[in-house]
Amino acid sequence: MSRFVLITPNNDFEHRARLATSGMHGSLQTFQADYLPEGPQDFLRQLVGEPPEVLILGPGLPADESLRLASIMDLQYPEISVVLVVPESSDVVIKAMRAGVRDLLDPDADPDVIRIMLERASLAAAGRRRGLAPGTSEHADHGEGGRVIAVMSPKGGVGKTTVATNLAIGLGKAAPMGVVIVDLDLQFGDVASGLMLEPEHTITDAVVGAASEDSMVLKTYLTVHPAGIYALCAPRNPVEMDKITGEHVSRLLAQLRQEFQYIIVDTAPGLGEHVLATLEHATDAVWICGMDIPSIRGLRTGFQILNELNLMPARRHVVLNMADRRGGLTLQDVEATINAPVDVVLPRSKSLPYSTNKGVPLLQDSSRDPATKGLRKLVDRFKPDWEARTHKQLHRRAVVQ
Ligand SMILES: Nc1ncnc2c1ncn2[C@@H]1O[C@H](COP(=O)(O)OP(=O)(O)OP(=O)(O)O)[C@@H](O)[C@H]1O
Ligand SMILES: [Mg+2]
Repeated sequence: MSRFVLITPNNDFEHRARLATSGMHGSLQTFQADYLPEGPQDFLRQLVGEPPEVLILGPGLPADESLRLASIMDLQYPEISVVLVVPESSDVVIKAMRAGVRDLLDPDADPDVIRIMLERASLAAAGRRRGLAPGTSEHADHGEGGRVIAVMSPKGGVGKTTVATNLAIGLGKAAPMGVVIVDLDLQFGDVASGLMLEPEHTITDAVVGAASEDSMVLKTYLTVHPAGIYALCAPRNPVEMDKITGEHVSRLLAQLRQEFQYIIVDTAPGLGEHVLATLEHATDAVWICGMDIPSIRGLRTGFQILNELNLMPARRHVVLNMADRRGGLTLQDVEATINAPVDVVLPRSKSLPYSTNKGVPLLQDSSRDPATKGLRKLVDRFKPDWEARTHKQLHRRAVVQ
């Protein structure tokens, strides 16, 4: 069985793809051609054994036809991941996302990068083939798949949506098409307006019927953002919240983990049913705390409750937002009260309310706002190499200006 199929006239790329797959189980079959098959059946017929896990549309193929084939594959053979090899541009990213392409690969990528990409694509293919029978969702740290990052705070209005949207845009630059932001503030969610999106479908469509059974249907309910990320927006009507249960949320996140590298969940304030369901899957929690007593005390109580419930995600990131010395509190006061170190400080910023109103997160345009630095620092904490680096001062880097 060929696990990987490559179509390309480019010998050099083929050579690198061979090196990439040489250490992997399963073989690579190449079709040396500068044109595409009429349809999927055309090349699948020529393969022996089971269909491949990954189809690589290599360099030297006509771009539009590659996208057309990818769309057909997505519909007819969703269990085969398609990887498109093209130089990246935002125009291509959007078209590729719409066509259901799994990943983009640079034509000059070296074998190591190709191997990582293929491993990721075949993991996604395996997830789809397996399907997700009810009750298969494992606890976050035992299950495989993407990182589920819950952005939370016991109190409202402290900057959860601001941080969640910026995190999604920031991570989207590191993992184009690998990020989805889910708005679980089901009554008053504003991820759509924070990202200037007009969703055709919302979470209400995504948790019922075919989408809940089939991750490929689910993917068609996501909204594509021009920065190369996906969004699943909150219902338009607040009463729809009652139709969405903790079970729904749990299943949804289990599905998305199979498809995406990063799942960012914006939440409603507090520790309601949907937040608790999210925490069961969360690999990371980003806690947002304002620089005021109610917010800080709320966070301390939140930590205590979650520890008692054994629902504290493995990785914790504390963001102190709207930091300002004028309130009379110091960073040390905050840390002593919550009994945890602050990891990132975001100063009060003039541009943030403006960017919220405009629907363009700070990290989307290269803004020089003082909050940008802190937001970038937060994004860096989720990059794959972050933990590998030595952090002598892991939790002692925050300064309030
Ligand atoms: N560091 C900051 N400086 C100035 N304004 C900020 C900062 N962070 C967030 N804001 C502004 O505060 C407002 C509330 O932020 P946001 O909507 O992100 O909070 P939230 O926690 O999601 O609120 P809710 O609990 O209602 O969902 C927004 O207008 C946002 O632009
Ligand atoms: Mg919000």
